[in-house]
Amino acid sequence: MSVFKDGLLKGRTAFITGGGSGIGAGIARRFAAQGARVALLGRTPEKLEAVAQELRAAGAEASCHPADVRQYGAVDAALCDAAKIHGGIDILVNSAAGNFLAPAASLSANGFRAVVDIDLCGTFNACRAAFAHLTATRGCVVSITATQATVPMPLQCHAGAAKAGIEKLTRDLALEWGRLGVRVNSVAPGPIEGTEGMTRLAPGDTRSHLDRRVPLGRYGRIDEVADAVLYLVSPAAAYITGASLTIDGGAALLGAGPFLDLMGE
Ligand code: NAP
Ligand code: COA
Repeated sequence: MSVFKDGLLKGRTAFITGGGSGIGAGIARRFAAQGARVALLGRTPEKLEAVAQELRAAGAEASCHPADVRQYGAVDAALCDAAKIHGGIDILVNSAAGNFLAPAASLSANGFRAVVDIDLCGTFNACRAAFAHLTATRGCVVSITATQATVPMPLQCHAGAAKAGIEKLTRDLALEWGRLGVRVNSVAPGPIEGTEGMTRLAPGDTRSHLDRRVPLGRYGRIDEVADAVLYLVSPAAAYITGASLTIDGGAALLGAGPFLDLMGE
């Protein structure tokens, strides 16, 4: 159940990277339920098709675009295909990312590069390839970052650097593209339950960890992140650009303190 009125995105098309699972799929579901046509990009065709079939069964238009966000040509072609199929692109959501826990001292240069390549360069690739489509529709971008972008976190230097880069890119693109009518914002989730991210970053978390790590005392839900993104692409956010909206139950207010035990002795 969404708190927004029905049909908020009727007639609009959203292109969602990482739309085949987790938060990206949740955003696709929320957007489709609000009347949007959705185009899903990710590397695994089966994951994209499963989400698309579910959306079609519920009456939405959905297309699948298997590609790696690190390949500019493939992302550009996917956006052109999606625009052709759906008649344009109004919204770009960047949710594709890779992450794992690794101490900086033993992380390989290639491991660092892989995450920056997917998250930051992948987001630039999609924004750059979407530019012509979004100026044609006076559309908008929302990129999913993480609170690691601003809060130093142990074992997260690669993801933190990549997400901080995306938040800076968000402000730069907002500045350059504002006059063309294109808004660019980001959403920084904290811990969101039932996701691949949490499986990788918080294996074995318990209730007592939660109480210590999140002022609101619980993990967030995928639909809560989807609602934050829906707000930013809606007319209610027509005067918002260059912003990062944190959705973390207040976890970032505590800084990295509660996570320092991850570093061990
Ligand atoms: P997820 O389900 O693994 O979502 C990531 C998606 O990105 C997957 O569908 C994956 O599909 C796709 N992807 C990965 N590498 C790609 C590449 N090179 N090219 C194209 N697609 C690629 O994880 P999630 O936890 O929902 O995370 C979604 C977003 O939320 C990420 O940006 C993450 O950083 C952010 N976030 C999550 C949390 C959390 O608590 N889960 C917290 C803060 C931020 P393929 O592998 O099939 O390509
Ligand atoms: N700890 C330390 N280094 C790791 C690692 C880990 N858990 N997992 C991968 N790496 C390193 C690899 O060792 C490799 O470096 P090397 O060549 O020096 O050995 C480098 O990262 C690239 O690994 P590779 O498996 O070739 O990368 P990929 O491009 O196929 O996959 C990942 C990228 C590693 C991010 C992969 O986990 C992925 O695709 N994730 C997507 C889903 C995801 O992470 N979801 C959560 C989002 S928050």
